Amino acid sequence: MLKSMMAAVINQWGSAETFEIVQRPIPELEADDVLIKVAFAGVNPADWKMRAGYLESALPNGAFPLVLGLDASGIVVATGENVVEFSEGDRVVSGTNQFTAGKPGSYAQYLVVNKQRVALIPSEMTLESAATIPIAGITAWQALFAADKGALKKGETRKILINGASGGVGSFAVQLAKWAGVDVATTCSGANLEYVRSLGADFLIDYKTQNISDEIAKWAPKSVDLIVDAISADSLTDPIALLKQGGKLVSIATLTDDGDIEASIAEAKERGATKILAYVDDSRFGKELQKLIDIVDAGGMWLPPTEPFELNDVARAHEKLEGGHVRGKLVLRVSAELH
Ligand SMILES: NC(=O)c1ccc[n+]([C@@H]2O[C@H](COP(=O)([O-])OP(=O)(O)OC[C@H]3O[C@@H](n4cnc5c(N)ncnc54)[C@H](OP(=O)(O)O)[C@@H]3O)[C@@H](O)[C@H]2O)c1
Repeated sequence: MLKSMMAAVINQWGSAETFEIVQRPIPELEADDVLIKVAFAGVNPADWKMRAGYLESALPNGAFPLVLGLDASGIVVATGENVVEFSEGDRVVSGTNQFTAGKPGSYAQYLVVNKQRVALIPSEMTLESAATIPIAGITAWQALFAADKGALKKGETRKILINGASGGVGSFAVQLAKWAGVDVATTCSGANLEYVRSLGADFLIDYKTQNISDEIAKWAPKSVDLIVDAISADSLTDPIALLKQGGKLVSIATLTDDGDIEASIAEAKERGATKILAYVDDSRFGKELQKLIDIVDAGGMWLPPTEPFELNDVARAHEKLEGGHVRGKLVLRVSAELH
């Protein structure tokens, strides 16, 4: 049985230079666990926010040395005694959030996860592409369709605005909204207009050179049903004014700049709209991963472009992501021999 692995760890909150590549123990497999040899680890904004200490209060004392990383793709190398759904050699995608239990994340050669957080990937899907799916894909899926968030239904006639269409969450959200058949307006910078058009957006607004409210007024005067905001509380001047009565603003929690949450929720209610501060709910993680994979497999969506960094170049990946202008997704290449 494998006992140790190389991992990118932090021993304190700090800048991207805080990472060290060291040997760490592989956690014991419990009965419902799967041991995955990590091919690629997805990199999410939550990772740098965690690294910088924004989630300090949510992590236990003595969290260090901490192995970050929420998303992973790879190959199953062992399974716990209750696992019949997966076997050695399976190509899978997964994700973890077990930091509070002291378990390592995906910036490591191996990942131990509960079987309910794992999904098989089809043979045509590369492990590099699969690593883009977990957090960004599930966040987008829930923002649009979860009953307590966007609550869209496939086939309904709706108009929605996706603020921040070119990043990880936006790349999934635009395509999933089109898969569901709704009309989609988007914001992005001029450099990403063609990319966002290729995702299927019906209406594009360059947030750097155009006034978003004026443009939305032309596209759908007072008739936007839903806004998914993947940027921040203050990036849209008055989002409630863009919504029809009864409309919803699903504001994806940034964990760094969410403004006065209670006041903005109360204000939306007073003005006949609903604001929801959305956190990813990982209670159906494996099932929602499988749903997204099935949509890709059926040709309903393609996976975002990736920019790979080596695991020992994790600091550069974090610096780039922290800059806030990645198109698609960054991934860490952990096991060069796996594709
Ligand atoms: N709370 C949760 O459970 C949860 C889960 C997932 C994600 N999130 C949060 O959701 C946010 C989005 O995540 P992500 O993975 O999509 O981030 P990301 O990939 O880093 O997003 C980068 C994209 O944002 C675009 N952008 C930057 N400023 C913009 C603006 N003012 N208007 C429109 N587009 C802008 C950039 O395009 P340009 O280069 O064209 O500017 C870039 O393509 C992050 O804050 C993340 O932490 C929260």
